[in-house]
Formats: sequence, C-alpha cells, structure tokens
Amino acid sequence: VPTMGALHTGHLALVARSRDRCDKSVATIFVNPTQFAAHEDLGRYPKTIEADLHLLREQHTDLVFLPPPEEIYPSGFSTFIQPPEVALPLEGEFRPEHFRGVVTIVLKLFNILPATVAFFGQKDFQQLTVIRHMVDDLNVPIEIEGCATVREPDGLAMSSRNRYLSAAQREIALSLSVALNTVVKQTAAGSREVRQLEQTMQRVLQDAGIDRIDYARVVDRHTLESLGQLDRPAVALIAAHVGTTRLIDNVLL
Ligand code: PAF
Repeated sequence: VPTMGALHTGHLALVARSRDRCDKSVATIFVNPTQFAAHEDLGRYPKTIEADLHLLREQHTDLVFLPPPEEIYPSGFSTFIQPPEVALPLEGEFRPEHFRGVVTIVLKLFNILPATVAFFGQKDFQQLTVIRHMVDDLNVPIEIEGCATVREPDGLAMSSRNRYLSAAQREIALSLSVALNTVVKQTAAGSREVRQLEQTMQRVLQDAGIDRIDYARVVDRHTLESLGQLDRPAVALIAAHVGTTRLIDNVLL
C-alpha cells in the first residue's frame, strides 16, 4: 500500500483490504518530491508520522517502509519514466510534471518491494488508470487493485488535504460530491448530453462559491478521452480549488 502518509480512513481501508487478500501487508510512507511542481504544496504537505505509525500498528501492518528522500533520490539521480497517454488530459493539463513523478516513484517502490498486489484508492482515478497502464506497458508482475473512495458521512471524499480546510471551506468543499451526485441523478433520469452534465457540475460548484475550477469533466472511463454522448462506461471527474487547497473527486457513470 503505497502512501504519502497523513493517513486517514481511506488509506486504512486500503491497508485492511491488503490484509484480507495477502499473507503479509506492507505500507510505504514517502512524500515524493518529484510529483510536486515548484509552486505546489510539497513544503506544507501534512506530516503526521507518529500518528501514521500508530494507525498502521493498530491495523497489524507487517512492515512500514519509510525511506529518507536522499535514499530514494541520491545525488546524481536522473532516470524518469515517461507516463502513458492517459496521463495527458485532466491532471496532465494542470499538473504537467505530476504523473512523471508518480509513475517513477511507484515503479521504484515496486522494484524495492516486489509485492504480489498493490492497492490504490479510486479517489485518484486518473492516477490509478495511469499506474495500470504503466504496469501493463512495462510488464510489471504486480496486480493493481483499485479500492472504492471512502467518504465522510456527508459525502466529502477523504483526503489528506482536507485537514487544510477551515469549517467554512469544508462546507464549500462538499459541493464537489454534491456536483458529482447531481450528475449521477441526471444520468439515472436519462440525461446523456455530456456538455449538459459538465455544465451542471460547473454550476453546482460555482453556486457553492468555488471560483477556480480546473476541470469538471465526463470522459471515457478507460481512455479518459472526451465524449459527446454518454454511450459507454464513463467517469465524471472534478478538480477545484477551495481557498488555497486543491481538491479532486470523481464518480463512475
Ligand atoms: O496517491 C499517493 O499518495 C501518491 O501519489 C503515491 C501513489 C503514493 C505515489 O507517491
């Protein structure tokens, strides 16, 4: 179970799933600098190591891998994986270097800890898709299991970044899951025009007071390509800023 720490119930669901499926369960905690751009939140990314280790101990994790950055990226390190094409839209447009760092660290972790199965949350839906492609393309002998997003009772997707939110901002942040749910309801009622569904999400987010929306899109679930009509398995994805915190969420359609 690769993580960047600041563990919450969503991570613990991945750990529990790995314990159900596997003889031994290993978690990694590494805030990977190469997946953050210079202007992003690497410096303030929450570090809660003692609490994380306590939670993992409670979950009977067999091993925690907590490498120092200079061991993962010693001076002279210069090899990177070029991410697959599914990394290009959505996050790829707003965080162009992000997935290069993600696939590079994930492959490094897989080489250091050659697990049977690796567990990733569907909250980072595009990341999960990118990692599946990387593993297929490079013949990595590790099964990738995606695990359902864990939500707060009111619908807010669990995220390490939620702890940046004030009470008022948390209310606003709820609009991401509200927007996604609205689209689920509209499609259940027969709506198939992707443009309309995307406009609905934009409106819900804007009405809640979000003025910086990176994207609110409905795309092909497998290729992440644009759709005109909802005529195949799809996914609705949102990335939006609440104050200085960037949040993402998605739902399968
Ligand atoms: O999802 C995360 O926490 C990170 O992107 C990952 C997969 C651990 C790689 O650093």
